[in-house]
Amino acid sequence: MSKQRVTRRQFLTYTLMGVGGFMAAGTVMPMLRFAVDPVLEAKKGGDFIATNVKVDELTSEPVRVDFKYKQVDGWYESEVTQTAWVYKDEKGDIVALSPVCKHLGCTVNWNGSPKHPNMFFCPCHNGLYEKDGKNVPNTPPTKPLDIFDYQVKDGYLYLSMRAKERGGA
Ligand code: FES
Repeated sequence: MSKQRVTRRQFLTYTLMGVGGFMAAGTVMPMLRFAVDPVLEAKKGGDFIATNVKVDELTSEPVRVDFKYKQVDGWYESEVTQTAWVYKDEKGDIVALSPVCKHLGCTVNWNGSPKHPNMFFCPCHNGLYEKDGKNVPNTPPTKPLDIFDYQVKDGYLYLSMRAKERGGA
């Protein structure tokens, strides 16, 4: 049986290769991970959030719908509550409007003023919107209310996380 002895030079070579390889991996792996991560990331279940509203129960009268979702910002996770005014238009299509006034961001309410029935009213500066969210000329808002995209799944209403802008008037 032959005894193989490791020389001092071999020992140093192996040690340096091991340490060098370890350091190189420590440098290269985060870069690789950064480059490939978006491809590996599991797709989340879409950007639509379930509400507790049954689509069959919606009418032509706007109702306030609150919905919540978790938002992850770096290491910080928070719960976001969104609100929409939802109704069915004359064609039966669902309309989901943001309640955020396009003037300075107060909250608008359906039938919020007895002087302006069947309109969205903003109490901060008497802003007015038609039922379809269009701003009434000569009131402070200069754009229509933002609108949420929606989906229907198993009879329930799902709304997009964020409302999108429409053209100004
Ligand atoms: S914030 Fe709504 S009218 Fe000014």
